[in-house]
Amino acid sequence: MTIHSDSKGIKIENVGLRFGETEVLKGVNLNIEPGEFFAFLGPSGSGKSTLLRAIAGFGPNPSGRILIGDRDVTGLPPWQRNVGMVFQSYALWPHMTVRKNVAFGLEERKVPKKEVERRVEEALDLVGLSHLAERRPSELSGGQQQRIALARTVVVEPQVLLLDEPLSNLDANLRVQMRRDILQLQRKLGLTTIFVTHDQEEANTTSDRMAVLSDGVIQQIGRPMELYDNPKNRFVAGFLGSANIIDGEVRVDAKGPAFVSDKGLVLDFRPHAEGPGSLVFRPQNTFIRRSDSSTDNCLEFAGKVVYREFLGSLIRYGVEVAGHLLAVDEMHRIGLEHVGEGADVSLCVDLNQTVLVNA
Ligand SMILES: Nc1ncnc2c1ncn2[C@@H]1O[C@H](COP(=O)(O)OP(=O)(O)O)[C@@H](O)[C@H]1O
Ligand SMILES: [Mg+2]
Repeated sequence: MTIHSDSKGIKIENVGLRFGETEVLKGVNLNIEPGEFFAFLGPSGSGKSTLLRAIAGFGPNPSGRILIGDRDVTGLPPWQRNVGMVFQSYALWPHMTVRKNVAFGLEERKVPKKEVERRVEEALDLVGLSHLAERRPSELSGGQQQRIALARTVVVEPQVLLLDEPLSNLDANLRVQMRRDILQLQRKLGLTTIFVTHDQEEANTTSDRMAVLSDGVIQQIGRPMELYDNPKNRFVAGFLGSANIIDGEVRVDAKGPAFVSDKGLVLDFRPHAEGPGSLVFRPQNTFIRRSDSSTDNCLEFAGKVVYREFLGSLIRYGVEVAGHLLAVDEMHRIGLEHVGEGADVSLCVDLNQTVLVNA
């Protein structure tokens, strides 16, 4: 294979940006390693695209510094940054064939004809679409168009690959396949990649590390499972998967510190901390106690089942506990005995499965 990548790391130093009165990025700091698959994950409007575009050199110049490898690219136009960008909308030239679309960037760069042919062939092969080279984009499916957009981007051998919600226009099954294909392509080329998505499953399954954004601020950076298991604050806990979150504070009484919820529920949970916080645990780690279940190391809750939903692989119960609505997931299997709505139940959460986070 001859298409390669001279992959570089990315350093973002105190980057800020405002649109009029609105501060869209607030003092963002981030280090991405060469060859890393990195995701920006956050709700719509959190600033993911703005940050990505700032790295690519699109849009207004932010404050702070951006480095690609050792090169300070702050203020440089996009074409001097050696970045390749892929958009949700594919942005292919409709009047050109697939082959011509992929060749275009190389021809612009005055690459010799023979080499253009060879690299285009290779790039098409890399995305598995050599057989469609003579078609026009309108004759391809959405997934195929996005593959062409990828081929067109990697063929010019950028130092970093930037993907802005590249799968959002595709249907669910295809998205799952495409995210694997993108990861495989990235691994083959060893290309530093930033993948912007609002879909946590996409970020979890592809990225080495990710940054969770909200309101123009990076809330937390880490490996997907690390963030899921140890969210730093309430936002990250609630954004990554389903979570039971009980807001309250740690108060010190005669028996030492105890967690008291904002609805007055006192828990036998004694962290080495004081002050406001939220207790977080996951529905799949919350159990409805059956007569034979053990209570070792349990944080116990007495409550009433207020709803029951069959979700296919799971049964989800909503259980009201002193004004808090908690979710409990049980793996479904044939013959499982269900608890009815209105039933009084006792819940158990393994203390090792709980985390106390900042409000
Ligand atoms: N060109 C612009 N002019 C004014 N506001 C903008 C512009 N681009 C983005 N914004 C605002 O910046 C915020 C972040 O947008 P964006 O980066 O697109 O978020 P995300 O990609 O996370 O959905 C939003 O509130 C959006 O309305
Ligand atoms: Mg966006």
